[in-house]
Amino acid sequence: DLFSFLESKEMQDLTLGLVPTMGALHKGHLSLIKKALSENDKVVVSIFVNPTQFNNPNDLEKYPRNLDHDLALLRKVDPNILVFAPSANDIYEGSVVSQNYNFDGLDKAMEGAFRPGHFDGVGTIVELFLKTVSPDKAYFGEKDFQQLQIIRKLVKKRGIKVEIIGCPIEREPNGLAMSSRNERLSIEMRQKAGFIYKTLETAKKKFGTESANHLLNWVGSEFEKNEDFELEYFSISEEETLLPIKRKENNKEYRAFIAVYANDVRLIDNLKLN
Ligand code: PAJ
Repeated sequence: DLFSFLESKEMQDLTLGLVPTMGALHKGHLSLIKKALSENDKVVVSIFVNPTQFNNPNDLEKYPRNLDHDLALLRKVDPNILVFAPSANDIYEGSVVSQNYNFDGLDKAMEGAFRPGHFDGVGTIVELFLKTVSPDKAYFGEKDFQQLQIIRKLVKKRGIKVEIIGCPIEREPNGLAMSSRNERLSIEMRQKAGFIYKTLETAKKKFGTESANHLLNWVGSEFEKNEDFELEYFSISEEETLLPIKRKENNKEYRAFIAVYANDVRLIDNLKLN
C-alpha cells in the first residue's frame, strides 16, 4: 500500500511533496499539485473531507464530494501521483475529536472567530498527515492565508521537519477565487461573485491614499448596497501576526481579508495590499 511504498528502499533517496486537499479538485488545487510535481520526485495528494474542521453541519453535509472525478483528473495530470483518500473511520476510528492548539493568537481573528474550532480541526488533520506521510515539502494556497500562517506556526512549534510552500490564488476570469464551494453557486451567482474580487482590488487602490478606517467603512457600504451578498467580515491585517491594522507602518506587509455569504454558501478571499 501507500505507506509501505513510502517506507520502501525505492523512496529512500527520492524527495516527496504533499498536497493536502478536501477534494472536488479545481484549478487552484492543480496549481499546487503542478508546483509540487516540479519540485519533488514523488507527490502525494490527500483527499479527505475532514469533519473536525467543519463548525457548521450543513456546510459539511453539502460539501461537494466526487472522488471518482478527482481520481480521473489526477490521473490525467500525472499517472504517477500517489493518492491518499482515507475514510473518516480510518482517520478517527469512531471518535471525532481534535487537539487544542496554541497558535499564539493567529487563530483568534477572522476564520477563527467566525468558525469556532475550525483551526484546531485543521491543525489536527494536517499534523497527522505530515507525520504519517513525512514529506520534504508540503503545499498550501494563499486562498486560505490564515490557514497557511497557522500551518507554518504549527510546524515550528511541533518541530516537524518539512518545508511549507505557499502558493498564489488561482481565480476565475471574473476574479472569483476558485473554490470547491463555488460548485454550489448558481451560474448567475458565480458571475456576480466577481464583485468580491472587484471590491478587494478597489480597496487595494484606495489603501495607498485613504485611512484604514475609511476603507473599512467603504467596503461595508459597498456590501450594504449589494443585495446578493452578505458581508461577514472585512479586515485589513498585518501578514505576520494577522492582527488588524492600527496605523500604517512602512516596514509591515498588509493584506485585506473578506468573508461573504451568497445565500447559504460562504466564500472567502484575500489580497495583498502593499
Ligand atoms: P481545500 O479547501 O480542499 O484546499 C486545499 C488546498 O488548496 C489549500 O491549501 C488551499 O489553500 C488551496 N486552494 C484552494 N483554492 C485555491 C485557489 N483558488 N488558489 C490557490 N490555492 C487554493 O484547505 C483545505 O482543503 C483543508 O483545510 C486542508 C488543508 C486539506 C485540511 O483539511
